[in-house]
Amino acid sequence: MTQPHALITGIAGQDGAYLTKLLLEKDYRVTGFDVPGTQVAQVPGTPSAGSQVEVLNGDIRGGKHIRSAIEACKPTEIYHLAGRTHAGDSFTHSDEALATNYEGTLNLLEAVANTNPDHQPRLFLASSCEIFGSDGDETLDEKSAIAPVSPYGRSKALAFEAACEARQSRELHLSNGILFNHESPLRPETFVSRKITKAVARIEAGGADDLSLGNLSARRDWGHAADYADAMWRMLQQPTGDDYVVATGRATTVRELVDMAFAAIDREIDWAGEGASETGRCRTSGDILVHVDPEFYRPVEAPSRVGHASKARERLGWEPSRTVGALMQEMVEADRARFAETNLAVAR
Ligand code: GDD
Repeated sequence: MTQPHALITGIAGQDGAYLTKLLLEKDYRVTGFDVPGTQVAQVPGTPSAGSQVEVLNGDIRGGKHIRSAIEACKPTEIYHLAGRTHAGDSFTHSDEALATNYEGTLNLLEAVANTNPDHQPRLFLASSCEIFGSDGDETLDEKSAIAPVSPYGRSKALAFEAACEARQSRELHLSNGILFNHESPLRPETFVSRKITKAVARIEAGGADDLSLGNLSARRDWGHAADYADAMWRMLQQPTGDDYVVATGRATTVRELVDMAFAAIDREIDWAGEGASETGRCRTSGDILVHVDPEFYRPVEAPSRVGHASKARERLGWEPSRTVGALMQEMVEADRARFAETNLAVAR
């Protein structure tokens, strides 16, 4: 059997790191595609994958770049992770979200559709639960209405629809993973989970006294990036492509995430007040550790997003392996280790 060969666009991000680790463990050859100057991030506690992976430089917004990359490495599978991932930022950079997430995907679809049909790679596209609307308590699945409320969500919805259309008209083996929020110690702190765990580790180390957040009542379905990489791979092992929601089915508010992160350093938070006046105090010291800054509110967002992943469970045999509490604990531990290492380096 020939060795499977994966091309991962946007390999330098969190999902690229976990997917690379998984595929190398499965004896894949892995090639990355990303903008110059980036490299594969190292999953904590594992050896660096950098030396085993060639990264081809290019920009997904340039059709020529991705076409050349596919021609050069002739992958058997392509995992398309490249994109603008910040829903909040997209309100002020909607053109970039559209150019990267929608037009970039069109470039890739066109390039794959034009490869030799005998060697056409299977294609995974990272879609997002932000393609859906939400009136609050509805659990979202593959049949939920597409009704995005952010420019980011719109760019992902357009890419999703173009992909479904190309799957049919160009006969591609293509799967969309409708991914709910997924986190890890590799998440940048522009996302709320890591912003929280980094602040908690800094508070513990005595380097900061508080944490400012936006909407504490936003409810999201948070899973671990390693599990979501596993779902991506499982999709491409099916006989045909399809669309799958990937989610844990459990909703957690931002406020509860904060509680979980502080629990990892044995502190309990007492909440008081409402909206922009809400605060979180340390139960033991009485210090205010959390407050709300309206700067971090989004102009519009769904109050709640919870996914129903029964299709992925039944057809892919996929299961999330970690709870959100375990995820937050792992992230806090990783940030504490980073602070300890930095302090050690300063002391040397
Ligand atoms: N970033 C951030 N910063 N979010 C905050 C803050 C804050 O200070 N305070 C509250 N939140 C709320 C946001 O309003 C949102 O409801 C929730 O925390 C999660 O925000 P993010 O972590 O920034 O992620 P996201 O949901 O916007 O987007 C992520 O998940 C999507 C769905 O899976 C990204 O990974 C997207 O690329 C992905 O599609």
